Amino acid sequence: MRKLLDFFAGKRTRLETENVASMTVHQFAESLGNAIDAKDHYTCSHSEEVAVVAQMLAVELGLPDRECELLHIAGHLHDIGKIGLPDSILKKEGRLTADEYEMVKKHPGMGADIVKPVVSVSGLDQITGIILHHHERYDGGGYPYGLKGDQIPFGARLIAVADTLSAMASNRPYRKALEFRKIVEEIKKCSGSQFDPLVVEAFLDCSEQIEEYFAGSPTLVEEFGPDRKAFSEQVRVMS
Ligand SMILES: [Fe+2]
Ligand SMILES: [Fe+2]
Repeated sequence: MRKLLDFFAGKRTRLETENVASMTVHQFAESLGNAIDAKDHYTCSHSEEVAVVAQMLAVELGLPDRECELLHIAGHLHDIGKIGLPDSILKKEGRLTADEYEMVKKHPGMGADIVKPVVSVSGLDQITGIILHHHERYDGGGYPYGLKGDQIPFGARLIAVADTLSAMASNRPYRKALEFRKIVEEIKKCSGSQFDPLVVEAFLDCSEQIEEYFAGSPTLVEEFGPDRKAFSEQVRVMS
């Protein structure tokens, strides 16, 4: 009996620790995402949007809660490697030179190196691969490794859609934010070339919800927005 009680006591402690660790990683990820968004003033809520849309796509695909949570955290962190880029490149209004573009292509690798120590102790180490490969293209034309189709971690294929969507929905130095209808057309057009068709299908299935989120729907912002209930609920379920 004593042993059994010790066993349950041990298990409880371990799970509570995991829960706290997971919350800490999320909060840490949110802070780092905010840091990079603050550095790049054209995308002041980009990491947050990618985190939210990634979670919505994951939920639409029926992925387990743990995966949805992991993708949300990866969304916050996906561009953290940009912290290693000089402001002259990050805030440049004109076209990047070939050398500057080569520097930009290093941000996924720098990001993976930055988060590795934190995510590897929390059991969320798939996040490293998601960050490293979030600019790969489904047809193999992306960077840093030119991986193709299934060679690209699924989470990275999902973040790629969320990332492009958020970028198209925001004002950039060289163009205004696109209308949501145009964004849907663009993403559809890139199915099978830039994006995994399965992720595009999930996007089309929940595009109305995503449009509402971008339009600032109070219900969706409450559900998926900062300190969202859905996220806390998932963490609660994990414990
Ligand atoms: Fe978050
Ligand atoms: Fe990126």
